Amino acid sequence: MRLLVISGPNLNLLGTREPEIYGSSSLKGIETLLQTKAKQENIELDCFQSNFEGALVDRIQQASGQVEGILINAGAYTHTSIAIRDALLGIQIPYVELHLSNTFAREPFRHNSFLADHALGIVSGFGVMSYTLAMEGLLAHLRQIN
Ligand code: DQA
Repeated sequence: MRLLVISGPNLNLLGTREPEIYGSSSLKGIETLLQTKAKQENIELDCFQSNFEGALVDRIQQASGQVEGILINAGAYTHTSIAIRDALLGIQIPYVELHLSNTFAREPFRHNSFLADHALGIVSGFGVMSYTLAMEGLLAHLRQIN
């Protein structure tokens, strides 16, 4: 089993970016934690971050036939990107939308998600734990259907 973790714009700044909202872990730290978890679960994990919408679309397209599930924190593109939505729907791989912060407790423009209605589930507001919870949920789902 192989999963893909996709991180969108500005998540490369985690650790120093608005730590009161996003916490003090770096993206590298989060990815290392997920890799450790993946080893324990006996699965492969690919990680990808980009600040560019088109690069995220390309990476999602490349995942077709290569991974069983996707964890995606699309950052601000969650609230704006029909292109990322279309890419995810186009490859028909189950995905979980996740956010470090609780986007519904923040500005109104963060309440909309172009990804949510086709997601397997959404995890939002648990900081780094949003990633591990999302991974557990996705794995449980995939192991039931595989
Ligand atoms: C975020 C929430 C988004 O609204 C924001 O644009 C981000 C991070 C989160 O993980 O809480 O970049 O996706």
